[in-house]
Amino acid sequence: MCGIVGYIGDEQAAPILIKGLEKLKYRGYDSAGVCTNDGEKFIVEKEKGKIEVLQKYTDDGKNIAGNAGIGHTRWATHGEPSKINAHPHLSQSESFAVVHNGIIENYMELKQELSEKGIVFCSSTDTEVIAQLLEYYDNGDLLDTVTKIMPLMKGSYALGIMYKEKPDEIIAVRKGSPLIIGIGENENYLASDVPAILDKTRKIYRLDNEEIAVIKRDSITVYDAEKNVVEKPVETIEWSMDAAEKDGYEHFMLKEIMEQPKAVHNTIAERIRDGRIVLDEIKLTPEQIRNFDKINIVACGSAYHVGVVAKYIFEKLLRKPVEVDVASEFKYRDPIINEKTLTIVISQSGETADTKEAMQEAQKKGSYAVAIVNVVGSAIAVGADDVIYTLAGPEIAVATTKAYSAQLAVIYMMAIYFGDILGKISEQDYKNYVSELLALPEKIQLILDKTEDIKNTASKLFARKDVFFIGRNIDYALSLEGSLKLKEISYIHSEAYAAGELKHGTISLIEDGTLVIALSTYDDLGEKLQSNIKEVQSRGAYVLGIGCEGRESLKKCTKSVIFIPKTCDIMLPSLAVVPMQILAYYMARFKGCEIDTPRNLAKSVTVE
Ligand code: F6R
Repeated sequence: MCGIVGYIGDEQAAPILIKGLEKLKYRGYDSAGVCTNDGEKFIVEKEKGKIEVLQKYTDDGKNIAGNAGIGHTRWATHGEPSKINAHPHLSQSESFAVVHNGIIENYMELKQELSEKGIVFCSSTDTEVIAQLLEYYDNGDLLDTVTKIMPLMKGSYALGIMYKEKPDEIIAVRKGSPLIIGIGENENYLASDVPAILDKTRKIYRLDNEEIAVIKRDSITVYDAEKNVVEKPVETIEWSMDAAEKDGYEHFMLKEIMEQPKAVHNTIAERIRDGRIVLDEIKLTPEQIRNFDKINIVACGSAYHVGVVAKYIFEKLLRKPVEVDVASEFKYRDPIINEKTLTIVISQSGETADTKEAMQEAQKKGSYAVAIVNVVGSAIAVGADDVIYTLAGPEIAVATTKAYSAQLAVIYMMAIYFGDILGKISEQDYKNYVSELLALPEKIQLILDKTEDIKNTASKLFARKDVFFIGRNIDYALSLEGSLKLKEISYIHSEAYAAGELKHGTISLIEDGTLVIALSTYDDLGEKLQSNIKEVQSRGAYVLGIGCEGRESLKKCTKSVIFIPKTCDIMLPSLAVVPMQILAYYMARFKGCEIDTPRNLAKSVTVE
């Protein structure tokens, strides 16, 4: 959510900043701006709209002088998307420039206090308060000023700060929101995410909470909040730029859909040795696993949908009760959990504020937290008691696909591993599960090979106004994801319903031509689902079925069917989600939507 980039060196800064922002546009895209210091003054250029507007206006940054600068791409929280609310923000007499990710929760209070002292604000943002605070407390020593204002601000922040009097340095500060420092040769960088600087350097420092970096052309010094120097390990980014490029695909989303066999393979390959699931990265002992009497899952959005699938799987295999909560609700319902509850936290970015807060709440109540995370070193990964990384590689499209699939793969492994420890899985079932797990990448590929057919189906359906996804049991859990995928990128209204629940009210919305996507992969309830299909069909619905090969009866009660390969019940979601992703992608594309950067959304939601 919002992207930050910074540069200091011998080259012209603005073109580097703008190129970096382009790589971060998935983090926020309602306005963008840069500020450079040409040695005498700040030059600020910002524009409402996507980064392309700023690129055009500044000739890709070429007409902005200066060898040091900071840039930002915004996802509005405080104040509408506009040029005035775009970052960087300057202090009243233009001595400080600030870019900010996160939220200053007490900004109204601070703004009031500063206004009473005669300081005039020009934007509606919380960020401007930071610039004004810096100027108000300025004592000529930038590091000291920064440490003075840090305790005054409540909330979360990743900041890039420039001081007019010190054109040869940039300050980076972090509390909550992520920030990395890129290490170059006689030049250094600052960024909220790796892709922004990956074509410049692979060596980075990751700032921890309340650390401050003083970045100069030829040095980087990191301090804690008491101004003690902190020795940071240099991290080398292993993944290549290709992983963060479109690689010939029109959109990241399509590329990432196609990468799912690899994402799932990478996530499971190292963890299956000699036919056994080995989760040796977790400290959780078999004894602890036996002692848990409940599992609690917290996550947001698609990751929450993985949690709903997990509930069906864990309850089936482990016979332990599972509660799944939308993370933003969890903390505020005073959940009944304790040291006998295992908490599983699921997050691609590892930075989602709601999820992080929910995890901390669970830990406060004594629960052991295992996080399933994609981004290495992210806040949730660091804060959890154990972390199992999904090895999906960087996910750039705002709508998640490969991370969802990799998260499911981890859930299967955990369920089988725990089930084995609890003695709930027979040796034969264990073997079957492992062999199905290993076969998943290949089976996903078989569905990807049908992309043209699914595209053709999408071409007939993209003009529909309302879509209902229905399913029972694990198919219902999956329908939640199918519906979210479609609505978030195509803006077509869609809802997911437990198929048996539709008749309790919502069926009144079904009329001639309403599209119903019926998930019927779970064989045990196939007959019952077919009755629900007939109910909507007789009210005029156009039904598209998704079922396993062999379920020929589905053809009789639907207009068309997408067949997926068979697998064991618990792993069906990994296959059935793929045609829904492809369908959503092409329906959005036929509608001419901005697929990788859907309106109002951003990747990695770091505000509550
Ligand atoms: C939907 C989507 C979001 C995320 C949610 C959680 O396609 O991507 O719903 O799943 O914002 O994000 P993470 O997994 O980063 O915590």
